[in-house]
This record gives sequence, C-alpha cells and structure tokens, in this order.
Amino acid sequence: MPGKRASPTAICARPRRTTPPQGGYNWTMLIHNIGQLVTPKGGPQRGHRLGALEIIPQAALVVREGRIVALGPESDLMADFASEPRFDAQGRAVVPGLVDPHTHMLWAGDRAAEFEMRLQGKTYLEILQAGGGILSTVQATRKASVEALMAETRPRLRRAFAHGATTIEVKTGYGLATAAEFKMLEAILALDDEGPWELVPTFLAAHAVPPEFQGRADDYTRLICNDMLPALKAWWHDHAPGRPLPFVDVFCETGAFDLEQTRCILETAKALGFPLKVHADEFDNLGGAALAAALGAASADHLVATSADDIRTLAASNTVAVALPCTPFGLAEPHYTPAKAILEADGLLALATDCNPGTAWCESLPFAMALSCRAMGLTPAQALAAATINAAAALQRETRLGSLEVGKQADFLILTTNDYRHLAYRFGTNVVGWVVKRGRFYRVEEGVLCMPN
Ligand code: NIG
Ligand code: FE
Repeated sequence: MPGKRASPTAICARPRRTTPPQGGYNWTMLIHNIGQLVTPKGGPQRGHRLGALEIIPQAALVVREGRIVALGPESDLMADFASEPRFDAQGRAVVPGLVDPHTHMLWAGDRAAEFEMRLQGKTYLEILQAGGGILSTVQATRKASVEALMAETRPRLRRAFAHGATTIEVKTGYGLATAAEFKMLEAILALDDEGPWELVPTFLAAHAVPPEFQGRADDYTRLICNDMLPALKAWWHDHAPGRPLPFVDVFCETGAFDLEQTRCILETAKALGFPLKVHADEFDNLGGAALAAALGAASADHLVATSADDIRTLAASNTVAVALPCTPFGLAEPHYTPAKAILEADGLLALATDCNPGTAWCESLPFAMALSCRAMGLTPAQALAAATINAAAALQRETRLGSLEVGKQADFLILTTNDYRHLAYRFGTNVVGWVVKRGRFYRVEEGVLCMPN
C-alpha cells in the first residue's frame, strides 16, 4: 500500500507538545477507512433544520496544515492522495470536534456538602442568598494562585477533551473583584496556550454580588460598568494582544442581577466592543432572553423559565439559545429548556455542559447530548448539530469550527464505534477513540486521554 503507515501506539510514549507520529502540523494526512463521516454542512441550523447531517459511508478526509483540504467517499480520494501519509480509521465513525459553549470550568475547591444540603431540601438560590453557593467557590478561588487554579482545572480540561470537546468556553466569575477576575482570565489564557484544547474566555464579574457589596447590588453594578469593563479592555490589550475580545456575560436572576442591572452591564460592554452572553431564566423569568436578543448577544443560556413570548423573540433573532440539561439534572429539578418550542419557533439551539462546582460538575458534552435526547426530546442528529455547528455559532466561531467542510479547522473525533448515534445513545461511558485538534492526533484509550500531564 502506498504512503507511510501511521503508528497509533507511538503517541502514548511521546511528550505532549511533540509532533504526532503522522508527521504533524505541516504535513498532509489522509484519514481513510472512515465507516461513517458525519457532519452538519452549510452553517448553523435553525428550527427543524437542526440535525440535517451529511453521512458519507466508507469515507476519507484529508488534512493539511491543520485544515481540512478534502473529504468524500474514499474511492474518490485514495488515488488523488496516493503518496500521502495515511491513517486507518478502522471503519469507525468520524464527527466534528464537539464545542462546549458554556462552562465555569476554572475554580478552586468543591461543594459536595452543598449537594447534600440540596438533597435535604434547601434550594440553590436559598444557599446562595445565605452566602454559600457561588460565594463559597469565590472564597476558595480568591485564595488560589494562578498556578493552583491551573492545576485544579487542567485535569477537568483533559477529561472534557477526552470526551470530545475540542473547543471549550470558560467563564470567570469566581473572583468578583477586578484583580481576582483578571487572575482567572490569566489562568484561562495560560491553559489555552498549553492546549491541546482551544479555550474561549468569558468575563463574568456579574456572576453574583460579592460579600463586600452585600445588599448593594447597584453599587457593584456601577463598579463593573465604570471601572471593571474599561479596565478589562486595557488589560486585554496588554495581556492578549491580537486575540478576539472575551465575551461579557451576566447572571440575570433573582438573587443575582436584575434586568436593569443586566442591561446596564451589557450595554456598557457592547459600547466597549465586547461580544455578549446572558445567563437567562435559569430559575425565574426576569426578561434576560429578550434583552439578549435586543442587544444582539451571541447567546442566551439556560432558558428554563422562558415565556412563550420570549422564545418567539429569541427565535426571531440571531442569538443562539444554549440549553444546559446537566443543570436541572444536577439540581434534581424537573424542568428543562423547552427545546421543541425553540425549534418550532425556528430558533437556533445549542448544547453545553455548564460544567461548574455548584449545579453541574459534568465534564462530558456527550452526556449533555444523551440527556438532551431523553429530557428535551432531541434526536441524536439534532444533539450532534447542537453540540457542534450551533455551539460554534454561540461562540461566534462557526466559520472556522463546528463542521467538517473544506477550509475548516481540522477538529474531529474518531469514535470507538461505527455509528455516530452511540454518542447520545450511550452514557456514563466514553466512546471517543481519537481526538484530532488542528490536525494533531490525541489518543483516548479506554476513555482516558493518552497524553502525559
Ligand atoms: O450556570 N447560574 C449561574 N452559574 C452557574 C452555577 C455556578 C455555581 O453554582 O458555581 C450555572 O448554573
Ligand atoms: Fe452558567
């Protein structure tokens, strides 16, 4: 057979930043014997178009310099790329790298005791109002160094990546003071530099009212608008020159920020050029979803208590509705995002884990997909599109990520099965065999990322 044979086992022995055995970033690589190449095509999928997937049996995919340069039936491609190094996918299914557009992955400490309190009858908002919840993670995170935060978060990222999340949004929001929020951003940027994952930062100083501002939410809101956001602009210019600005997000909720405070923060952020996100209607409908749509936010997330009117408003906009089914699951609450109503209204629906220490310590986006099929009525095809191309749209990266098309970044998964539906059909088990990020191959063995710490 022409072409060099890849040696999958060689990867495990190599240190992380070395070139994979297939030759690496600058080489052309033909991935052949793909039993099923599955992808959304042609951009984000609205309403009932969600889940329109192209499925190519016995396919091949060609990667050059971290991008996809060709894909199609194997019989069409083998002759054209006959002398290139090749990788045998052994009949397995290949899907786009998953995109997780909503996480609070960076934190210190844990909240197992609070989980138990909730099971004994206390609610999430009662615990927050009593100074626990987010505020207990704030205490631990404020004390932690950048290095300590990175050390706690890195294993979570490794597990999320091993489960197929090649791009992960990560929020601040456990600092709630300028320096502590910037410390979180510094850790997020440093973890992004480490890779192999790609991280998308979001500034969430408006996650809770910090203890110093207890009972003075308006004063804290003014601090965010007048001081923190302008300081963020300057900090970003110095610390992340050339990178797209981070998203600015607000937890618009009873006990956190009301609609007027949310509007003030988002309008200020927008005027400074930041792209926007909103935590809306997780427990109560304060109007955050309609505000997100009116301000052209990239996404409105949670959307459990959203009214029929707000669903229509959101669906008529380009703001992506991000459902987080791990959150009601994690809180043992019966209500989930009304996904079918959002699709019926022709909205853009995406999925995320919401990985955080309070409501949903879930590092597996496939678990969120599996749950979305049971609790929200999605099909496996819809769940895949919601966790790839639409999730990329929630991060405004849909032209580069989220589907397997010529010209796009070579982010994809080789599963351990020959049917992509296993991603949503199974749960509690990892069906990812290889994660390919920017054309580099990372082996997942028995569910675990095979890459030195
Ligand atoms: O999305 N709701 C606000 N933020 C998170 C929870 C964060 C926490 O409890 O630490 C969420 O559910
Ligand atoms: Fe959240």
